[in-house]
Amino acid sequence: WELFSYTTRCLLFLSMLSFSGQLNQKIWGKRYPACNNARQSPIDIDETFTQVRVEYQGLQLEGWEKKTPETTTINNDGNTVVLGLDGEYYVSGGGLSTRFRLGRMTFHWGCCNASSDGSEHSINGLKFPLEIQIFCYESDLYQSIDDAVKDGGRIAALAVLFEVTSLDNNDNYNTIIEGVNSVSRFGKTENVEPFSLLALLPNSTDKYYMYNGSLTSPPCSETVEWIVFKHTVPISETQLEVFCEVMTMQQAGYVMLMDYLQNNFREPQQQFLGQVFSSYTGTEEVLTPMCSSKPQNMQADAQNDTTIMVMWERPRVVHDTTIDWYSVTYQRLQDQNQPKHEYRTDGDQDVGAIIPGLLSNSSYVVQVVAVCTNGLMGRLSEQIIVDMPQEDPGEISYNLSTHNQTFYKKESYQNSCAHHDNSCLIYTAQKNKGNTKITHPRSK
Ligand SMILES: *[C@@H]1O[C@H](CO)[C@@H](O)[C@H](O)[C@H]1NC(C)=O
Ligand SMILES: *[C@@H]1O[C@H](CO)[C@@H](O)[C@H](O)[C@H]1NC(C)=O
Ligand SMILES: *[C@@H]1O[C@H](CO)[C@@H](O)[C@H](O)[C@H]1NC(C)=O
Ligand SMILES: *[C@@H]1O[C@H](CO)[C@@H](O)[C@H](O)[C@H]1NC(C)=O
Ligand SMILES: *[C@@H]1O[C@H](CO)[C@@H](O)[C@H](O)[C@H]1NC(C)=O
Ligand SMILES: *[C@@H]1O[C@H](CO)[C@@H](O)[C@H](O)[C@H]1NC(C)=O
Ligand SMILES: *[C@@H]1O[C@H](CO)[C@@H](O)[C@H](O)[C@H]1NC(C)=O
Repeated sequence: WELFSYTTRCLLFLSMLSFSGQLNQKIWGKRYPACNNARQSPIDIDETFTQVRVEYQGLQLEGWEKKTPETTTINNDGNTVVLGLDGEYYVSGGGLSTRFRLGRMTFHWGCCNASSDGSEHSINGLKFPLEIQIFCYESDLYQSIDDAVKDGGRIAALAVLFEVTSLDNNDNYNTIIEGVNSVSRFGKTENVEPFSLLALLPNSTDKYYMYNGSLTSPPCSETVEWIVFKHTVPISETQLEVFCEVMTMQQAGYVMLMDYLQNNFREPQQQFLGQVFSSYTGTEEVLTPMCSSKPQNMQADAQNDTTIMVMWERPRVVHDTTIDWYSVTYQRLQDQNQPKHEYRTDGDQDVGAIIPGLLSNSSYVVQVVAVCTNGLMGRLSEQIIVDMPQEDPGEISYNLSTHNQTFYKKESYQNSCAHHDNSCLIYTAQKNKGNTKITHPRSK
């Protein structure tokens, strides 16, 4: 093994994994049935499918500013490097069901170069070269994290993802990297110099994803409340490479072989059926509590000269409650001072409306809003103007140049324009034979 260069070793290891490591993962379920269940970790977190919960904001980190005690140990157990956290460190809030005490920290890595996949969790399909997991337990009920795992108790796990972003070492990690280096021999245990736990976390800990999942190795207990930080921590390639010097023992037939420990991550669990939440809203941050953010990807088109078809998607953020139904309002452009007409959907699953009986050769303003079980309304969608074609469009030959119209109706849109300048809403309507396509309103 010593004869191979670093990368070659990794490539060889990868090909062995496809026969042993990953195969092993597939048969975990034979001995530990939970490993085949529907709430298994790790998962890929697709941000667009996360549900925002403002009440899951406010993760509390108690005691994290204190340096770790001299008695902190680090151990190479052949599957990962385990850092025992024996101090008064707690985590609560952030959607966690209770206050948890920190128990231990483990590491998952791949081939230890900047572009290698090593993390267990991925975000929007993207893996990271390293992931640290901090496991916590209920210290009112258990003596240690091991007791809690053995007894099937509740676990909280914080996951930190890493990126190689520069040549500079991340000094906050120097002590840990030295610790990892000191236990590269299989089975070894050492003490770790005091270090700051808080400094290990990403710059911003406000943004994270939460889901209820499992341990990522047998017994795969589905008792873990995961918090995966959105922001990564930078690390240098030199620091990362230290992980790939860690040795393990592999059984090969009747002999035990010494080998480099690499790619010690579990594959993402495609069968995961739970909901992933997010502590933040992404593009629009929540300011005032409302029932929901605005419906997404709204579209409205004339189906024929008297019918409009409206479609939208569920709002990304729903606060404290659930959506009861949607209200679609519509009104002729020139009737802006008269009451709006309303169409109500049959429920929250009904995300479309067909509105018949309209006047041909006129323009309608259409808008959608969610109405929640608590009676509150969500944020209004953008307004879309739909131009109804003239009757019997078959007889009229449209000239695209002459029918390319730009609507600029300042007075009519005072409400929605309140925060913009005068030219805030410009709608471009592109007409063609018997059909009208409206591009989405553009704010300027
Ligand atoms: C990183 O490792 C992977 C897997 O061995 C390899 O395919 C890739 O070329 C390496 N990248 C660099 C920049 O060395
Ligand atoms: C973290 O914060 C420091 C200081 O505020 C800044 O220099 C650094 O660029 C930040 N890193 C990231 C990854 O945002
Ligand atoms: C996870 O499960 C616990 C206990 O049932 C519950 O209190 C908590 O809200 C759940 N958290 C998430 C993010 O689903
Ligand atoms: C317009 O389309 C609607 C829905 O498809 C249909 O019910 C209606 O009869 C159509 N009207 C005309 C004039 O074609
Ligand atoms: C359509 O509306 C425009 C503007 O209101 C009007 O000038 C035109 O005569 C109408 N065309 C038909 C066929 O009614
Ligand atoms: C369409 O209208 C434009 C502008 O009025 C004119 O220059 C062009 O010749 C017309 N095209 C046809 C095919 O009528
Ligand atoms: C009509 O408008 C569309 C969209 O703004 C533009 O791409 C197209 O070039 C315009 N066509 C004419 C003939 O002006």
